[in-house]
Amino acid sequence: MEKDFLSIAALTQAEVVELLDLTDMLKANPQLKPLSGKTVAAIFQKPSLRTRVSFEVGIVQLGGYPIYLGNESIGIGSRESVADVANMLTRFCDAIVARVHDHGMLVDMAKHATVPVINALTDLSHPCQIMSDAYTLRQCGKLRDGMKIAYIGDGNNIVNSWLELASLIPMHLSLAVPLGYEPDRTIFEAARASGVSTIDLVHNPVEAAADADVVYADTWISMGQEKEKIRRMYDFWEFQVNSSLLKHAKDDVIVMHCLPAHRGEEITDEVLDGKHSVVYLQGENRLHVQKAILTKLISQQ
Ligand code: CP
Ligand code: NVA
Repeated sequence: MEKDFLSIAALTQAEVVELLDLTDMLKANPQLKPLSGKTVAAIFQKPSLRTRVSFEVGIVQLGGYPIYLGNESIGIGSRESVADVANMLTRFCDAIVARVHDHGMLVDMAKHATVPVINALTDLSHPCQIMSDAYTLRQCGKLRDGMKIAYIGDGNNIVNSWLELASLIPMHLSLAVPLGYEPDRTIFEAARASGVSTIDLVHNPVEAAADADVVYADTWISMGQEKEKIRRMYDFWEFQVNSSLLKHAKDDVIVMHCLPAHRGEEITDEVLDGKHSVVYLQGENRLHVQKAILTKLISQQ
């Protein structure tokens, strides 16, 4: 694997499988402490519940020591340059986990750090989430050729990472987004050009949800887009995951959402809390899969 984990695009199909298998192995062997004596810096420019807690708990469970660095304390790019932060953390820590707005800042950080840098979400992608989702699908017996994943909503960082996974693992990825909210064009075209998966981009949620094995929702208003709330509520109102949309999917469909959910907006309570939902398992799997990512990257240093 590359030194850093900035995107799923940096992996091969074999490496995706290797990480999922390593996740199983670490889960079955909690006595293993591969991060013993290692320190990991965790930079957060944006809020977080799952990512922060799962990384901190995971590092401790692996025998390591996490250091949380909120943006207010280090002022990355304002108090100090990204390069200086990276050069310093490299001398103290064994890995850097970072959630930042600008993906370019993460790339810059990885360039200047000699230790692994892990993407904990940027405006462009959220690879730890989608790797954990792949693990959840495998656990639910859904990770199979031709599985239909219907994503309903905004063509955001979650979708970009799904597209990167679809470039490696065969699936039918059907994206229903309002006009003007398409995913990153370069990532979309690369996924299609890979020829690995069938990828549709439609503007009708029913078309995407038809016969789906998985229906996936995410917020209509990602972190940093709060000022666009009124316009987005208007543009997205037909893209809600609710029980009438779910009727178009397979009977044993599973419903996924990376959380945090805005109940009553992109998804109803009935669906989020209903029998098809696996959202809390998805959240829990962040812990297990990130432990594998940390172990793999730090052990190959
Ligand atoms: N899904 C996810 O990344 O959640 P947080 O924003 O709470 O970390
Ligand atoms: N698209 C969401 C994902 C949150 C985990 C955001 O960027 O806010």
